[in-house]
Amino acid sequence: MSAKILSGREISAEVRQELKQRVEKLKMKGLTPGLVMVRVGEDAASVSYMRQKGKTSEEVGIYSETIVFPEETPEEALLKKIAELNKDHKFHGILVQLPLPRHISQDRVINAIDPMKDADCFHPVNVGRLLIGDPYLLPCTPHGVQQILIRSGYSPEGKHVVICGRSNLNGKPLFAILIQKRAGANATVTVCHTGTKNLPEITRSADILVAAMGSPRFIKANMVKEGAVVIDVGVNRIEDPSKKSGFGLVGDTDFEALKEKVEAITPVPGGVGPMTVTMLMWNTIMAAETQTGITVG
Ligand code: GUN
Repeated sequence: MSAKILSGREISAEVRQELKQRVEKLKMKGLTPGLVMVRVGEDAASVSYMRQKGKTSEEVGIYSETIVFPEETPEEALLKKIAELNKDHKFHGILVQLPLPRHISQDRVINAIDPMKDADCFHPVNVGRLLIGDPYLLPCTPHGVQQILIRSGYSPEGKHVVICGRSNLNGKPLFAILIQKRAGANATVTVCHTGTKNLPEITRSADILVAAMGSPRFIKANMVKEGAVVIDVGVNRIEDPSKKSGFGLVGDTDFEALKEKVEAITPVPGGVGPMTVTMLMWNTIMAAETQTGITVG
């Protein structure tokens, strides 16, 4: 039997609807959540992601602005702008799109954002709070993974979750979220990486397998347990002459083979991707409520 396809698009639409209603209520109390997005340069993927984030803000009712600096902008100019935005009460969330040009230190830029306005949850203060079990916001992609699982009826509680990949963006924060002692988490989590021995043996022991290592179609059918739930965080551009653009997107799993064996799996595209943008909206709203003390219960 073929696996259930976990549509991040559908779950995203459901969450956005909830957020939209929340924003409507906040607006009645005089609060319009605001998000400012900053980009340096014209990286094609970044341009497209930011357009998506702007459109989704509008859909949910969040006020958003996009600031674009030329590629050669000095780091000091970017830091100065962030200092201004930290003080600007219109904006409850600040996002600096990554990657930044090489002459700019990503760490210095992330550190310059007021942790209360850190919509991505990349600031070390917020990463630390998550790790000690006192989270403020949650990082968007891993939070999206957790929401897909919960809302599809596959709560990670008590399950063995195996995460492949230890990036600061995905693997590590997902680990931190899923080991929290709270509903929708409380899982036993194993993180695999390039130093892992006997990878297939470990991945086969997963009730829930998360592929987040950035290797196209790496996870094969013989690496998963029958009946497992698989979440594919990978977004890899591969050449595809059948497409007008000349390329297609594939995940970190061999989707076609796995879907004949597993209980449920997310597709690429249309799986985790749409959730990332939605959880950014979630964070902006939560940040606005925390900063103003205005909330809708
Ligand atoms: N670049 C790729 N993904 C992300 C993200 O989630 N946030 C930011 N700021 N930049 C990114």
